[in-house]
Amino acid sequence: MINKKSREEIKLMRQAGNIVALVHKEMAHVIEPGISTLELDKIAYDIIKKNKAIPTFLGYCGYPNSICASINEEVVHGIPNENRILKEGDIVSIDVGATFRGLVGDGAWTYPVGKVSDECLHLMEITKNALFAGIEKMIPDAKLENVSAAIEDVALAGKVGIVRQYGGHGVGREMHEDPFLFNYRTNSNVIIKKNCAIAIEPMLNLGCDEVHTLEDGWTVITDDKKPSAHFEHTVVASEDGPLIMTELL
Ligand code: MF3
Ligand code: CO
Repeated sequence: MINKKSREEIKLMRQAGNIVALVHKEMAHVIEPGISTLELDKIAYDIIKKNKAIPTFLGYCGYPNSICASINEEVVHGIPNENRILKEGDIVSIDVGATFRGLVGDGAWTYPVGKVSDECLHLMEITKNALFAGIEKMIPDAKLENVSAAIEDVALAGKVGIVRQYGGHGVGREMHEDPFLFNYRTNSNVIIKKNCAIAIEPMLNLGCDEVHTLEDGWTVITDDKKPSAHFEHTVVASEDGPLIMTELL
């Protein structure tokens, strides 16, 4: 079942999303060659706590940290580690969730570490464009398939791979609610309900579509080891159009 959100829930989700945005604002400042992904996790944890929220990921299915930090060929769910030191030319996807008074905001962004290759810049640009093309289609009573199709079209035009095993999701009192959102066409007939909230999150690869999970049980990497990017916003389909929850207030 797809849950519609009340005005009060949307207000709280907007505050949760603001905290996610505060974390990303800080990530953009501190990500540079030499910092470890565990240091990034600590910074995120402190910001979430300072804002009286709960790090949504921490303890989720046993996940050990507050952010996922996925470097280069890592697609999603990279576990922060003091020995994972960012270096010039890397790209790193930071995914973070904050729960504020029971409501979840979920957002991810891929950052360049120093100067990165033109191909990585292209991949990041296409993935971000795919996210915003999807967001535009978050219109009440329209098909959720429109969001999937918009993402797929941007990815195909950009000639990048589409990760197919993962996708977006409803979000609210739980991080993962119905519906699942494919990042490509599937002939789905799901309708976008007014005031439903969906985390839209294209994961696109410089190479092939295929990915697999490492032995740590979490880290997902591309089969061909080419870089991957991930951009995500939590979005409400309001009658006035799409409302992005995970931006700064
Ligand atoms: N943010 C991810 C998603 O959008 C989930 C992170 S999994 C966790 O689905 F275990 F790290 F929480
Ligand atoms: Co998500």
